[in-house]
Amino acid sequence: MTNFNCYPAVFLIVKIWYNVGTTRIIYGMEVHEPQNPEALNHFEQQHVPKIEVDFVGEIIRVRVEIDNPMQPVHYLDWIELYVDDEAYDKVEFEPEDQAIAEFDVAKDAKSLKAISNCHLHGAWQTKLTL
Ligand SMILES: [Fe+2]
Repeated sequence: MTNFNCYPAVFLIVKIWYNVGTTRIIYGMEVHEPQNPEALNHFEQQHVPKIEVDFVGEIIRVRVEIDNPMQPVHYLDWIELYVDDEAYDKVEFEPEDQAIAEFDVAKDAKSLKAISNCHLHGAWQTKLTL
């Protein structure tokens, strides 16, 4: 596992948005966004991806984490990362896993988007401009 404490972390709180009742269709799937990215409610905290980035030499280490209960009755089954609006990589989970995914991205990336999927409550996204 990558130790993110080794480098001065450039921690960016994500710019997130969620429109209740106006779910967007992205890449053929419905994707939810938080109503107020600065004040996520408990339900949103369990679904909206948090993106942390750490610039390390020629790469950007991207960590996506979600505070989801991850139990058989309620869990996230995947997190997918998009770099500059292109699908980059996807990590799948089982209910007993932690909802954490790590990716190494080229340092010239301009934007990141993480989409998580809850098997009960659908897909949720976060965008980050680098
Ligand atoms: Fe859920």
